Amino acid sequence: MKFFIDTANLDQIREAQELGVLDGVTTNPSLMAKEGIGGKENILNHYKKICEIVDGDVSAEAISTDFAGIIKEGEELAALHPQIVVKVPVIKDGIKAIKYFSEKNIKTNCTLVFSAGQALLAAKAGATYVSPFIGRLDDNSTDGIELIGQIVDMYNYYDFDTQVLAASIRHTMHIIKCVEMGADVATCPLDAILGLLKHPLTDIGIKTFIEDYKKHN
Ligand code: E4P
Repeated sequence: MKFFIDTANLDQIREAQELGVLDGVTTNPSLMAKEGIGGKENILNHYKKICEIVDGDVSAEAISTDFAGIIKEGEELAALHPQIVVKVPVIKDGIKAIKYFSEKNIKTNCTLVFSAGQALLAAKAGATYVSPFIGRLDDNSTDGIELIGQIVDMYNYYDFDTQVLAASIRHTMHIIKCVEMGADVATCPLDAILGLLKHPLTDIGIKTFIEDYKKHN
């Protein structure tokens, strides 16, 4: 399973990249705003900076909701850097835009997916990635992980190339459950990635080994 980091924070992206396990980055307008990045030029420059830090795919979100607007924004974003993946919402004009981009070999990430039906349309349009939002479903008393399983099964059954990118991940158990479901990618906050390292028996084991080593050294 590939690991993307879900942030626009350059320090966190660098930290994850230095760990050596990072495969890409996802951002969204809220994550950009959280870093105080606003204005078209600043936003485009920020995407370029992210691409310079990581080797893999970097999702950059189009905010238009009409076909012409999504195409204009998406082409501009894709021209920024070869690693850019255009993030498009799963709406009628978004699906049309994903089809258009797939014919132009521009990578896409179909976002704000909350149902198997939406994921089906994204795959039929040729999306590179589909992003089901696990945490937001859980917040609304619906099992987000179950949706990941449904989409993985559907894509395997029909042999779709679209990769399942589990998004809106809130904690380490979401990551583990995504592995069990066979998600292709999990995009996670840095805390959730680092959380996978935590185990009290590891800490106790290290402490004991160091103490025992020191007895005769
Ligand atoms: C990433 O592609 C999504 O935009 C992000 O994971 C959403 O996460 P949130 O539900 O925690 O805002």
